[in-house]
Amino acid sequence: MTKAAGPRARDTERFGRVRAREFPWMSETIYLNNAGIGPLPARTIRALEEFQELRRAPHRLADGHRQREILTEARAAAARLIGADPTEIALCPNTTVGVNLAAQALSLSPGDIVLVSDKEFPANVYPWRHLERQGAVVEMVPVSPEGWPDEARLLERLRDSRVRALAVSMVQFASGYRADLDALGRACRERGVWFVVDAIQGLGQLPLDVRRTPVDLLASGAQKWLLSPWGSGFLYVRRELIERFVPAMAGWLAFEGTDDFSRLTEYSTRFHADARRFEVGTIPYQDIVGMTASLGLLHELGVERIATHLRALRAVVERAAERGAFELASPPAGAHASAIVCVRTPAVAERFRRLGDAGVVASLREGAIRLSPHFYNTIAEMERVLGLLTEG
Ligand SMILES: Cc1ncc(COP(=O)(O)O)c(C=O)c1O
Repeated sequence: MTKAAGPRARDTERFGRVRAREFPWMSETIYLNNAGIGPLPARTIRALEEFQELRRAPHRLADGHRQREILTEARAAAARLIGADPTEIALCPNTTVGVNLAAQALSLSPGDIVLVSDKEFPANVYPWRHLERQGAVVEMVPVSPEGWPDEARLLERLRDSRVRALAVSMVQFASGYRADLDALGRACRERGVWFVVDAIQGLGQLPLDVRRTPVDLLASGAQKWLLSPWGSGFLYVRRELIERFVPAMAGWLAFEGTDDFSRLTEYSTRFHADARRFEVGTIPYQDIVGMTASLGLLHELGVERIATHLRALRAVVERAAERGAFELASPPAGAHASAIVCVRTPAVAERFRRLGDAGVVASLREGAIRLSPHFYNTIAEMERVLGLLTEG
């Protein structure tokens, strides 16, 4: 018992210290809206400011040298987060671009079926529906009675030989449902179906290792749980697939030879052999610099440790739901739970307004109050919020 409590208590203390250093404004509010916008750590703001100083006088960027380093560092930091190799990472500005790049790369034929769970966030729906213009069929698989992805049904539909791709979110935006990526990915791999994951609501709060979990392509913006600027994100493409996929868009930096700016018009016919082939033109360096700084912080803290802390915060809400204080609109503790926890109270809009008046930042999604804490939130904050949710 003491053995388990020791490291956890140390982590909690550490998170408290990091909170004070990186988010000195945090006591102004109770910030529980990471599923909406992740705050920028102080170190990230410093990295942005330092970069802007260089950008102010571009000769300081050393003829593009620093720019290239910035991209290399970012790909490495993103790769480390998911257990990938940096050559499997293409930087992109948001999830939508990543999902579109993935969807287009699959070169689906007329009649090919893409399975998408109903109620997914639109960034993981429209890029697939866009393929219908080319004749692909998007099948919106109905959700379970609770409103969550029906994994049993998804697995069953994978048996249909016309199914060529399955797209799911690692964590659902409106319920916090965590998909069983291992089971879905394994079933896809066995059947030769592409498995594409929108990971923006999962990465940073839950660990993922693509060496163990069979994912083919994964897209994530970094503006939420990765505490990074808007405009930063990445696409992961499994090594074995990179050269099989022809990018739908031809970025000028995606071709072999364009690293040498002195010979740019010796046009190449060959895309890079790594995931840079999916990068489209000049990347927003200032945002990417910020992402690397923020990922550095998450790596230092460790996503496993963050996930453990977040389970403890969530348990406060779970216990209140068990006491009948309100209804949980998210999966109970266990394999499908995440740090997004939604509660349905009577007069929910009024409750939500009261939370806001008391300085709590959360969100109202699909008729429930969505609480999404990160490592810097505390048990005391969660208890305070519960009081506001339940008192008369
Ligand atoms: C599951 C999911 N995907 C994608 C996004 C955002 O997409 P993008 O990064 O393209 O803005 C969100 C949230 O806003 C989301 O919850």
